[in-house]
Amino acid sequence: MKAVVLLGPPGAGKGTVAEVLSEKGYRHVSTGDLLRAQIKEQTPLGLEAKALMEQGKFVPDNVVVGMIRDLISNTDGSANFLLDGFPRTLVQAQKLDELIASENGTIERVILLRCPDKVIVKRLSGRRSCPECGAVYHMLYNPPKNGEVCDNDATALIQRSDDKEETILNRLSVYAEQTAPLIGFYAEKGLVREVNADQSIADVRADVMEQLA
Ligand code: AP5
Repeated sequence: MKAVVLLGPPGAGKGTVAEVLSEKGYRHVSTGDLLRAQIKEQTPLGLEAKALMEQGKFVPDNVVVGMIRDLISNTDGSANFLLDGFPRTLVQAQKLDELIASENGTIERVILLRCPDKVIVKRLSGRRSCPECGAVYHMLYNPPKNGEVCDNDATALIQRSDDKEETILNRLSVYAEQTAPLIGFYAEKGLVREVNADQSIADVRADVMEQLA
């Protein structure tokens, strides 16, 4: 089993980059998407996560680690995972190391998407997504072809409840406090490759591909 970790602040473009890597044979795993699926199904886990996510706070480590453990242990050893939004704390990073070691796997790279806060606020406030297929758009930078409906299935697009400006600022400060320390954790292992995420989507994708080559 191999894994690539996509690291970067909310709105840096992790999900957008992941779409193209999925086409290259990586299995995209977004803990945010897994949690939103639980919310949609109104499971007890989803109800607990909803209140935290709407405030821009993290869901407890044991919950997300449990989701990733289930996923990894139910997949055959040849899988290539692209981890988007996991790990986000040092505890999660240490647990991921244990899980990967138990499967004789490796983390191949950690791709760090760097993006200034003011760009992030603009990106997240213009983001819309499809509740049906999960496709992500931006009303200015990556607009759907017809008004506010999904290009894939014509479902009406929605704005995420955590994409309000006040919540975005909270998410950025939680990132700085709890997730940014992972850069040093992975740099010590020689795994980090930085990409400037403040450029066009095509250029960001090309730079990420170059770092994975
Ligand atoms: P999650 O869903 O993972 O959100 P996030 O990390 O905050 O990241 P986003 O999905 O907001 O942004 P992104 O980097 O994927 O950007 P995107 O490609 O969409 O997590 C949500 C919540 O779940 C967390 O706050 C937490 O509560 C909980 N959670 C999840 N994982 C957890 C964990 N491990 N532990 C604890 N809690 C956890 O792009 C953003 C917008 O910009 C889009 O509109 C896009 O079209 C546009 N865009 C992208 N790239 C560009 C570009 N280069 N130029 C112009 N526009 C661009």
